[in-house]
Amino acid sequence: MQIEISKIPVTEAYQWMVSLVAPRPIAWVTTLSASGVINLAPFSFFNVFGANPPVVVFSPTLKRDSTKKDTLINIERHGEFVIHASTERDIDAINASSASLPPELSEVEYVGKRTLPSVLVKVPRLADAPFALECKLRQIVPVGNGPISSNLIIGDVVMMHIDPVILGKDGKVDPSRLRSVARLGGEHWCRSTDLFQMERPQ
Ligand SMILES: Cc1cc2nc3c(=O)[nH]c(=O)nc-3n(C[C@H](O)[C@H](O)[C@H](O)COP(=O)(O)O)c2cc1C
Repeated sequence: MQIEISKIPVTEAYQWMVSLVAPRPIAWVTTLSASGVINLAPFSFFNVFGANPPVVVFSPTLKRDSTKKDTLINIERHGEFVIHASTERDIDAINASSASLPPELSEVEYVGKRTLPSVLVKVPRLADAPFALECKLRQIVPVGNGPISSNLIIGDVVMMHIDPVILGKDGKVDPSRLRSVARLGGEHWCRSTDLFQMERPQ
């Protein structure tokens, strides 16, 4: 089977892409609105892309009516955000926080979470997150235009908060304690419990 992208509707390209490139980690992102409302939403167009400096990229696409999501509006305004762990414990809250609430309502309260002040950014972080990455905007790269077009948000991680509960005896992150979840196509999600290790070749 072969599919030439220019011959299919955008919504079909979206379904193929998110089903084929899977699983994807989920950034659970807080931002601040102009009136001080703390916004919370999940984004699986997300990954880490380097360590010098530590850089993350995620993409709030334009909505199907081509308007901007609150997360993008907030980051365009003040250039700061916090990315939190998406773990098994929080799957219901992560999913619920993707509801399209009006900008004056906070998804943080809606999903029953509490926040704490961040250290280097004004955007508060989720109080009980296994980890939280305070980020400052480096660049926004719009890709395309119209429905589901991307806005690559490139951010520098400037501060990490790590709950020791996710660390093993060796002081490193123990994935079986972190219990990350990830997104696949359609309504599929997955856990990270089927772990194996492999040594890298020299
Ligand atoms: C697990 C999950 C992953 C998602 N990933 C994305 C994504 O990568 N990009 C995107 O634009 N929307 C994504 N969404 C949908 C947004 O979370 C949703 O549009 C949300 O309402 C945006 O919130 P905001 O308008 O407050 O920014 C995802 C939803 C879920 C449940």
